[in-house]
Amino acid sequence: MRRKLAAGNWKMNGTTQSLKDLSALGSAHKGSGVDILICPPATLLAPAVQTVSRSDIRIGGQDCHDQTNGAHTGDISAEMLVDAGASAVILGHSERRADHHETSEDVRAKAKAAQAAGLLTVICLGESLLQREATNTLDIIGAQLSLSVPDGATGENLVVAYEPIWAIGSGLTPTPDQIGEVHDFMRTRLERRFGAGVGRSVRLLYGGSVKPENAAEIFAISNVDGALVGGASLSAKDFSPIISALEAS
Ligand code: PGA
Repeated sequence: MRRKLAAGNWKMNGTTQSLKDLSALGSAHKGSGVDILICPPATLLAPAVQTVSRSDIRIGGQDCHDQTNGAHTGDISAEMLVDAGASAVILGHSERRADHHETSEDVRAKAKAAQAAGLLTVICLGESLLQREATNTLDIIGAQLSLSVPDGATGENLVVAYEPIWAIGSGLTPTPDQIGEVHDFMRTRLERRFGAGVGRSVRLLYGGSVKPENAAEIFAISNVDGALVGGASLSAKDFSPIISALEAS
């Protein structure tokens, strides 16, 4: 059985003030039957780890370099994330792919480094609106999946998040059938590459405008094992009902 996962991506948002929401979330979901992961900006990693130390929330980074250390101004290595107390990292988010020109090959190298350091990697994939309209979605997702995920992936070190670029921060979401089609496709591809046991153990998240209002409908879709949430993860008021919907699914 795959343990469900509610993951929050704070992106470039949050100051020490935001730790109050983290604390509230930890109290509200103590002993939760689902995994909860919050990925704050790098400046908040260490204090966030402190804040959740007596709760069941895990803390993750939003990116890492593929090298352990060196002359890479502004970058953070997987080892540094581990050192700060993080246990996971988001990789290949469409904003990183767009803003920093990250390719799927770059993402795979980062994922390899992160998995070697013992981090759970949340690898993001997603098509643009143009690609969806040209009915290329499954080709795009298939290519991103095979190129971004390193060999040696397991249910313990890999989570895949399907995040249509046009759904992120837009208030738009695909229909349940569209989400289900992509998730079933990713499951089949993972089973084919890694074998049925591993393929079935990798958790598949949906991300893109997940809100308290649509969470239950999304969590009812086959092969959706949770969500990667941006905007609605910034406040306990919005994220808590999403976690509750996952707990109830
Ligand atoms: P959103 O972002 O929930 O604000 O749409 C999702 C994401 O980018 O992970």
